[in-house]
Amino acid sequence: MSRLIVISNRVTAPNGSNSGAQGGLAVALAAALRENGGIWFGWSGEQTDQFTGQISMQRSEGVTTATVDLEEQDIDEYYNGYANRTLWPLFHYRIDLAEYERGFAGGYQRVNERFAETVRPLIEPDDVIWVQDYHMFPLGQELRRRGCRNRIGFFLHIPWPPRRLLSSLPKAHELIETLFAYDVIGFHTQEWMESFIDFARAEMEAVVQPDGVLRIGLKSVKLVACPIGIDAKEFAALAESDAARETYQQMRTSAVGRSLIVGVDRLDYSKGLEERFLGYERFLTTYPEQRKEVFLLQIAPPSRASVETYQRIRNTLEGLSGKINGAHADLDWVPLRYVNQGYPRDVLAGVYRAARIGLVTPLRDGMNLVAKEYIAAQDPKDPGVLILSKFAGAAAQMEQALLVNPYSAEEVSDAICQALNMPLGERIARWQALKAGVDEQDVMWWLKKFTDELRNVPMETETRL
Ligand code: G6P
Repeated sequence: MSRLIVISNRVTAPNGSNSGAQGGLAVALAAALRENGGIWFGWSGEQTDQFTGQISMQRSEGVTTATVDLEEQDIDEYYNGYANRTLWPLFHYRIDLAEYERGFAGGYQRVNERFAETVRPLIEPDDVIWVQDYHMFPLGQELRRRGCRNRIGFFLHIPWPPRRLLSSLPKAHELIETLFAYDVIGFHTQEWMESFIDFARAEMEAVVQPDGVLRIGLKSVKLVACPIGIDAKEFAALAESDAARETYQQMRTSAVGRSLIVGVDRLDYSKGLEERFLGYERFLTTYPEQRKEVFLLQIAPPSRASVETYQRIRNTLEGLSGKINGAHADLDWVPLRYVNQGYPRDVLAGVYRAARIGLVTPLRDGMNLVAKEYIAAQDPKDPGVLILSKFAGAAAQMEQALLVNPYSAEEVSDAICQALNMPLGERIARWQALKAGVDEQDVMWWLKKFTDELRNVPMETETRL
């Protein structure tokens, strides 16, 4: 089997310093590389005075990583700028937060060129290349410009916005056209894929062929909807680990008989934390007889802290959590524990298992793997209930969760009440159906489905060069 070259902005080595707290995507990609062999290339997360393109290679637990440092201007314009102040809000439907600066677009293009230039010598003719996420839209085109004829796939891990919103992005056409340098583009849901097709058809006169290939003039690209999963077996095993058991006991003791509701999210405005807190507060006031039977633990490690919108959401949540506790806490009860740090995955698995409710209510999310991890960690004999936003990509696969509109405090409040009062038989039935889905469409299933599509593309890439 040919090697896999994974290219993504963030590279997390399996035993790296932040491996305990790494997200589901990082875990999935490491699993992919272990399976196929190859290299994982991207930014080291470090800043250097001047970009040199010097690669640092490392190998650990069967995964080879190759990383480069970026200079300050690159980080400002590419990572903090175009990726996270322009594309991220726009692609999460937050056009009100999107900032359109030519300097950001220029820095984004420059860094993509730098990545292409740096990774090019590592690529062998048989390698299959797989580019990840919104930081790297133009990378495929830059590799083609450097004579790369390999099969190159692209996977988008965030939503694709409706066409009318995307039209607000200056030079949207040019950016989207770069995607036609890829052989295959993957999305987590049919909905995101259809939005992409809608834009390409209406704004770029693209034609969709019956085999799922999208064509503009001589250029074409195959589209697939392919939801990412977790390593369900590994996560269920983590939930049985010593660290998880210890955490489970700790949570049970500190709960003193109350039901734990848990949320775990990067501190990001797309995660709907403000709305979640308001929904929880609505529950406290609507169901006063039940309020002291529960508490909400919200774990929210800070993210992208140099970006102002992230500083603002952090301030808002600090104010709101203080207000909720001030208004509702009692001598022996704090309704909301709001924690701004990340935890190792085995500890999280113990927290999930101890939680009667997993509260996952993003306003918009490409997939959301916390929902799947919560399900994988449950005790089969006494499982908790997942409350999930219908605007998360995961909702398309997880119909047996209590699906809610995260903007509606009433719906969130009622779902909490319903989950707390759900009979054991119903909890087990819903959980079994969800668990079967999480087990079946796991990370290996995702990986195989996408890479099979990519490996099956005919090698006539001349038109792409
Ligand atoms: C989302 C994105 C990933 C990104 C992650 C963490 O899941 O889809 O590409 O790596 O957030 O964000 P960060 O900016 O810390 O890499």
